Amino acid sequence: MSKPTYYITTPIYYPSNKLHIGHSYTTVAADAMARYKRLRGYDVMFLTGTDEHGQKIERRAQEEGITPQVFVDNIVDWIKDLWKTMDITYDKFIRTTDAEHKQAVQKIFKTLYDQGDIYKSEYEGKYCTPCETFYTEHQLIDGKCPDCGRPVESVKEESYFFKLSAYQDKLIKHIEDNPAFIQPQTRQNEMINNFLKPGLEDLCVSRTSFKWGVPVEFDPGHVVYVWIDALSNYISALGYLSEDDEAFKKYWPADVHLVGKEIVRFHTIIWPALLMALDLPLPEQVFGHGWLVIDGGKMSKSVGNVVDPSILVERYSSDAIRYFLLREIAFGQDGNFTNEALITRINSDLANDLGNLTSRTVAMIEKYFEGGTLPEMQQENEFDTDIKALVKNQIQKAEENIEKLFFNNALEDIWVIIRRLNKYIDETMPWVLAKDEANKPKLAGVLYTLSEGLRVVSVMIEPFMPRTPEKIWGQIGLQRGELTSWDSIYTWGTLPKTTTAKKGENMFPRIDKEKELAALELANSPVDTNQKEIKSETKPEAQVKVQEKSAQKTEEVKQLEYITIDDFAKVELKIGEVIVCERVPKSDKLLVSQIKIGEEVRQIVSGIATYYTPEEFVGKKVVVVTNLKPVKLRGILSEGMVLCAVDETGKLVAVGPLGDIVSGSEVR
Ligand code: MSP
Repeated sequence: MSKPTYYITTPIYYPSNKLHIGHSYTTVAADAMARYKRLRGYDVMFLTGTDEHGQKIERRAQEEGITPQVFVDNIVDWIKDLWKTMDITYDKFIRTTDAEHKQAVQKIFKTLYDQGDIYKSEYEGKYCTPCETFYTEHQLIDGKCPDCGRPVESVKEESYFFKLSAYQDKLIKHIEDNPAFIQPQTRQNEMINNFLKPGLEDLCVSRTSFKWGVPVEFDPGHVVYVWIDALSNYISALGYLSEDDEAFKKYWPADVHLVGKEIVRFHTIIWPALLMALDLPLPEQVFGHGWLVIDGGKMSKSVGNVVDPSILVERYSSDAIRYFLLREIAFGQDGNFTNEALITRINSDLANDLGNLTSRTVAMIEKYFEGGTLPEMQQENEFDTDIKALVKNQIQKAEENIEKLFFNNALEDIWVIIRRLNKYIDETMPWVLAKDEANKPKLAGVLYTLSEGLRVVSVMIEPFMPRTPEKIWGQIGLQRGELTSWDSIYTWGTLPKTTTAKKGENMFPRIDKEKELAALELANSPVDTNQKEIKSETKPEAQVKVQEKSAQKTEEVKQLEYITIDDFAKVELKIGEVIVCERVPKSDKLLVSQIKIGEEVRQIVSGIATYYTPEEFVGKKVVVVTNLKPVKLRGILSEGMVLCAVDETGKLVAVGPLGDIVSGSEVR
């Protein structure tokens, strides 16, 4: 009987940036799932790759005096090396510059044109090159890109359009009928309420202003623009519309597209609409994960706060980094990356919990039994029943969590077993049992339970930390095979009774936190030693700033995470009462309010129009930053800032006092 199939994808990465630890997060998560499914007997197709076209690449290649193809080739090699370092087991790496992909895109474009889903018209708008996104005039903030704040360019050109608007109702129906289609749930609501219900506009799908793209076969001068090219990778990689479409027949529709939250919209609106137009089944699920953030902001090269994964892997091993990423960040939510959190996790979960359990177990077997071999005569104790029941329960829980892609919960489920086994050592006190020869069977029973527990744990961590299991097996007398299969963990007592233990290397040496933090600051400073490093996009001034900050950090490693009370006191916060509020003309996002702060009335512009109507906002008491330098937003003076809480979806809620208090009161 043929195996069930499982098709999982990551987004295809832009090769314009050196990938950072944030990018690794999507790929590591997909890899963990792919490995898990393989262990469960699935025929897995795990796809990743690179999104290589566009004006940005064309320009950067030009700046470097090389062809776009040479430019991307260099970076793609680097990316493949990175995935190797992180033990990523993709089954296929697609490049949008692959001939097969380009052919598929051309055929898709032609099919959609022939059937009337693509038509020719004229595009007029503003384009942000770094974000590769078009905006309408009223979406801009201060005439600049609403996402990155950089200047936009005016463009007007003949373009092809995809009739996205025609699919609005069908999309809403599909999403409502298939609650698992968009996960987590919050993203589903966001798509329906923020994008689908307000109405879809047709999508511009070709450009004439640059050349580096898939040419529209029947209209030279046009290249296919962004999303049809990028999204089609998920089917072109399988041979869709090619002579050999076996893989397509076998694996499509995808089980899950794993994507970062900012591209959920393209994957749950444009992509399904294209598939509907092509009369193809839709993927089972699009899972939008949160970002890895530093100091609350998205890690990005242009901000200068990226963390280089290869440096971390070199220092701590890929298993430790993979563990940290999947454990620290609740899947679907943003997670903060700090070197301190990383070292704390390695020391507590890996060195203390897992490392100690392994080394203590093995050391005791070697110490108490000749040649490190457990005897046949073994006796159970009163804690064993509890251990067996707990293990059974935790396996089930972990499986459920992995299926839902809740990797942090699954790892916690496994660590419950590890911590329970460590506690079992304290409960059974093998060193006391060892004093009396009559207790040897009991002692052997205890050490067997620990070894068997380690076997179960080692199998369970394999999808997340693929290198560590072999190291544990070597120490408890196992080799990869039947006894290390996922199925084997359902039966307690599978490890041979008379197993032989052998001390191995220290898998996770404890790290001296203070020294390491200082070393890491230097290692991660933007002066990069990686020879294949591509030309940095970071502006020189920004680099200098980061370097200065980095040097200062090394000096004051400990203090830097905190601010002093004097720092806090620099921010003047007061209670204000909104007395007048109206929309900023031609802006979807901005409200302008007159806010009474004691005797004074301030005018403040806030980006909250999506969350409050002016009527709702009037009368509210809010917290205002009153000593912020005034700025003009859309030509309107703003003399302060209203504080808001922001959730993972970007939703804003204004912050106010919990009790009755007059406006002008200080907040401190
Ligand atoms: N090329 C598009 C995707 C096209 S898919 C048909 C793209 N590329 S990207 O390189 O910018 O991003 C690739 C993935 O990395 C996205 O899922 C994105 O969310 C993810 N991440 C980039 N920075 C990240 C963090 N700081 N944290 C977590 N994920 C991050 O988008």
